Amino acid sequence: MKALGYTRPLEIGEFKTALTMLDLPVPEPAEQELLVQVKASSINIDDIHFAEGTFFGGIYPSRASADKPTVAGVDVAGTIVKVGAGVTTFKPGDDVLGFTMPGSGRGAWAEYCCLASKLALHKPAGYSFAEAAACAIGGKTAASAVVCAAPSAGEHAAVLGASGGIGSIVVQILARQGVRVTGICSASNRDLVLGLGAVEVVDYAKGPFDVQMKDARVDMVIDCVGGREIEAQSMEILKKTGCFVTLCGPEKYIGERRLSKTGIAAMLGYVLWRYLGSKISGPRYIMAGIGSSLEPLQNLVLSGTIKPPIDRRLPFTEADVRDGLAYIASHRAKGKIIIEM
Ligand SMILES: NC(=O)c1ccc[n+]([C@@H]2O[C@H](COP(=O)([O-])OP(=O)(O)OC[C@H]3O[C@@H](n4cnc5c(N)ncnc54)[C@H](OP(=O)(O)O)[C@@H]3O)[C@@H](O)[C@H]2O)c1
Repeated sequence: MKALGYTRPLEIGEFKTALTMLDLPVPEPAEQELLVQVKASSINIDDIHFAEGTFFGGIYPSRASADKPTVAGVDVAGTIVKVGAGVTTFKPGDDVLGFTMPGSGRGAWAEYCCLASKLALHKPAGYSFAEAAACAIGGKTAASAVVCAAPSAGEHAAVLGASGGIGSIVVQILARQGVRVTGICSASNRDLVLGLGAVEVVDYAKGPFDVQMKDARVDMVIDCVGGREIEAQSMEILKKTGCFVTLCGPEKYIGERRLSKTGIAAMLGYVLWRYLGSKISGPRYIMAGIGSSLEPLQNLVLSGTIKPPIDRRLPFTEADVRDGLAYIASHRAKGKIIIEM
């Protein structure tokens, strides 16, 4: 089968050029796995970080080698062709969406991939394969950030990076729950974010958003960008009883740099210190991960609550996916970039 991947650990900035179309055997599903004919996948910024060993500053070094190439990508939407002996909830012919474990090396940018049955959902008929791939890991991460914020209808939220792959889904989830959303993004994404359900948009390019929102007191900030400056500005607009949920922590565009072990320890120490300190004196500080349960995502997908905007659809070729990687690395993507197999 054709698969896009790499055959050695990569340096920062190398993924775009080292990504290669490989010819690999179709994998065999393990007992609790599904073999899926992939119809669509997506490009996540973290696909680059896993390939270049910089995810969260480098907590998962890449292990690719010529003997064991790493197939890139995580999001999967496709049709099951075979199931492992222990699988009872899926059968060949079912259309599914889900994701492979980030960093596992058994990725989704391939004609076929194996998906753990616990990381898969039946694809609702109302979703195209492209839409289903767009809301797999991004949807799960967004859902888990919202669960951390525990919003109630009528509350006010600010979403940073509201036009990105995850932020665009966060805005939709909050808006459908009756939360008043202020999207923070550049002016070019204003209409997109209002269309997702935000009631107003603040253009961060016009000046610090806390100054522009000086009269607002929000119940939650969901940060999909990261960095201490954003955190400090968020504290200015948050109620004391509110919460700051970050996907990225104190480093802006986390994953663009490789940190030393001391640097990673300092960053994790900061996150722990902020989390514990905020329990004594609010607003609460929470670092969200992708979460362990698929249930919140399942409810959102089944109810049709989330349909991420699709920025680009790329054919499954080395050159097109390389272009997609360059685009996502610019931090200007509007929603998701889809690869169609
Ligand atoms: N914690 C976890 O488990 C976890 C899981 C997945 C992802 N992540 C992290 O979450 C982050 C977001 O991922 P993503 O897929 O949503 O990224 P993305 O799609 O690449 O985000 C691009 C968007 O970010 C916006 N943006 C860039 N700089 C901004 C700024 N200073 N202020 C406001 N918006 C800004 C851009 O809007 P404009 O063009 O309008 O600026 C663009 O629409 C990544 O850093 C990723 O590593 C964390």
